[in-house]
Amino acid sequence: MRVPQKYPGKKYYKGAKIGQYSCNPLGKNPGDVWVIPNVKHNHTEKTVHPCQFPVELIERLVLALTKENDLVVDPYLGVGSAACAAILHNRKAAGADVVEEYLRIAAERARLSWEGKLPRRPVDRPFYVPRPTDRIAQNGHEWLLVHHPEIWREIQAIIKPIDADKYKTKISKEKTMKGKLLYSPAALNARFSEDFKKAEWEESRTSYWVTEDYNLIRKTLHLPPDEQKREIESAGRRPIFSYNQTDFVKKRVAVEIQFGKYSFVAYDLFVKHMAFYVGDAIDVGVEILPMKAMQEQMSSGPGYYEGALYDVVRQGRGVPAVPLVLVGIAP
Ligand SMILES: C[S@@+](CC[C@H](N)C(=O)[O-])C[C@H]1O[C@@H](n2cnc3c(N)ncnc32)[C@H](O)[C@@H]1O
Repeated sequence: MRVPQKYPGKKYYKGAKIGQYSCNPLGKNPGDVWVIPNVKHNHTEKTVHPCQFPVELIERLVLALTKENDLVVDPYLGVGSAACAAILHNRKAAGADVVEEYLRIAAERARLSWEGKLPRRPVDRPFYVPRPTDRIAQNGHEWLLVHHPEIWREIQAIIKPIDADKYKTKISKEKTMKGKLLYSPAALNARFSEDFKKAEWEESRTSYWVTEDYNLIRKTLHLPPDEQKREIESAGRRPIFSYNQTDFVKKRVAVEIQFGKYSFVAYDLFVKHMAFYVGDAIDVGVEILPMKAMQEQMSSGPGYYEGALYDVVRQGRGVPAVPLVLVGIAP
């Protein structure tokens, strides 16, 4: 049996086979993991049955395991998805169920299948791909809530009692704000760091080997460091040692406290958290930074929550490919 190709009409555009199909136009072999939406709510095939199978699932089995005119028997027929799949592919069907209403619906669906009128979800309808702005796509926070709600509570418990006014210790020398009392990023950073250390968040490092060869980087990206080194050497290239360091990790959650420049925030989000994630040292990265309301009472330059959030959303979700949580703080 075959399932639709991703690019059904694709042809060779050069070489001896130019103009011929580069893939089987009848479809490709299904992969090892079959992704078929289950039948619920708005699914085209949905009936009153609480655990109805998608017809496509049984179709694959019918096509792979039986020949035309064979008899397909489902002794737990439900609303007859197996019978429908059988009829759609010129097999005979029989079945039983203890619920009369299901059998009535099964008979009706079998008739519709025979007449080619069974409502069905088209097999080549693409799956819904979340857009960057969908809530479903904002998965870092959900990951924390599902896997480590206590860590999320702890992060909030560390932040909340910090009295920002105590850290308004810097007298501005900037022309536009001369003499004004501003938040001190260094003092704030020291206070946050102290509290995370007290709560036993630990420093972590991830190391890796880089090279100038693009293909070799792709090949070695997910390998452990020694294997990366070996692969690069055996390809005749020079392995260059590199590492990232982060101050606070607990239960595979990394926290970065960032009152520094805008570029440092971008570095944390798109390089650092990413490095730990790819190195399989963390599952989610948390970035704590001031909101605009606080940042504008600092000397020029620090990044702020709203800007960083925009940067992440602009990339489209899935990029960076590490689940992130941005925490904006304001006094
Ligand atoms: C998981 S459902 C099957 C759903 C079916 N594949 C479909 O797509 O509609 C299992 C069915 O087995 C039926 N059943 C339970 N005990 C049975 C029995 N002893 N004999 C026949 N059917 C039974 C239930 O009523 C239920 O409809």
